[in-house]
Amino acid sequence: MEAVDTDEYARLFNVRGRQYDAAMTRYPQARDAEFDTVVAIAGIASGAVVADIPCGGGYLARHLPAAVTLYSVDSSDVFADCIRATGASRFLLSPIDAVPLADGLLDHVLSIAGLHHIADRTPFWRECARLLRTGGVLTVGDVRAGSRVASFLDGVVDQYTRTGHQGIYFDAAAKTELEACGFADVVVETRRIGWRAESRLALAEFCRLLFGLEGIEAAQLLPLLERDVGMRDVEGGAELDWELVFYRAQRR
Ligand SMILES: C[S@@+](CC[C@H](N)C(=O)[O-])C[C@H]1O[C@@H](n2cnc3c(N)ncnc32)[C@H](O)[C@@H]1O
Repeated sequence: MEAVDTDEYARLFNVRGRQYDAAMTRYPQARDAEFDTVVAIAGIASGAVVADIPCGGGYLARHLPAAVTLYSVDSSDVFADCIRATGASRFLLSPIDAVPLADGLLDHVLSIAGLHHIADRTPFWRECARLLRTGGVLTVGDVRAGSRVASFLDGVVDQYTRTGHQGIYFDAAAKTELEACGFADVVVETRRIGWRAESRLALAEFCRLLFGLEGIEAAQLLPLLERDVGMRDVEGGAELDWELVFYRAQRR
C-alpha cells in the first residue's frame, strides 16, 4: 500500500484514537518500560519544565519525576477528549510544529512513537529548538528503519487495518537533520523495551486494540507477533520484544 500523506494520517488517528486509548486504559502497565526508558535517557531533574509532543492520551505523565511542570501537546481531537477526561492540566490541542508556548520555555521535549508518519520532520525539529532553552534536551523514541517492529507494522498492521500502515522510519538521516536544526551532542541508541501483560494472549489483545486491527482475533494475531516481533515468558506474564531507537539531542 502507498504511504498515506501526513494530514490524512493525522485525520485517521481521530478514528483510531479511541481504540488506542482503550488499549492503554485496559492495559495501563503494558508500555511502562517504554515510558520509563525515555524519561531515563532524557535525565529529567525535579522542577524541570517538560513538554510531551505528541502526547496521545497523556500516558507518559505518571512516569515523570515529582515536581515537574508538564505541557502535553497533540493535534488530535479524539486524544484531546481522552486526555481532558483524565483531568490533566496544561493540555494544548495544537499542531506539533506550531505550539503556542514561548521561546526557550522548556528544559525538555519528549516525543514517543508519534513521528513515523511525518515525511519532513524538519519543521518539528525547528519547533523543538525554538521551545527549548539553550542546553535544553530533546529526547525522541521511535521505530528504527529495518527493525522487526517496522516489518510488523508495515506487514501485519498494514494488512489488518482499513487505512493500511506504511511508516517513514528513523535512519541515519535523523541525526544529521537534528544537527542542522540547532541541536548538538546527538546520542543515538537502540533499546529493547518489552511490552508486558499477564499472558501472551493478553499481549496480543493489547496490540489488536492499540493498532486498531480488524478482521483478526487475538488468538490469530498471537503467532504473527511471536513470528515477526518475538515474545518471551517472564515472571507474572509475557513480554513482547518491542524495540525503539532513541535520540537525545541538546539545544545549542
Ligand atoms: C502512536 S500515537 C503516540 C502517542 C503517545 N506519544 C504514546 O506514546 O502513546 C501517535 C500520535 O501521533 C499523533 N500524530 C500522528 N500523525 C501525526 C501528524 N501527522 N502530525 C501530528 N501528530 C500526529 C497522533 O495524534 C498520536 O497522538
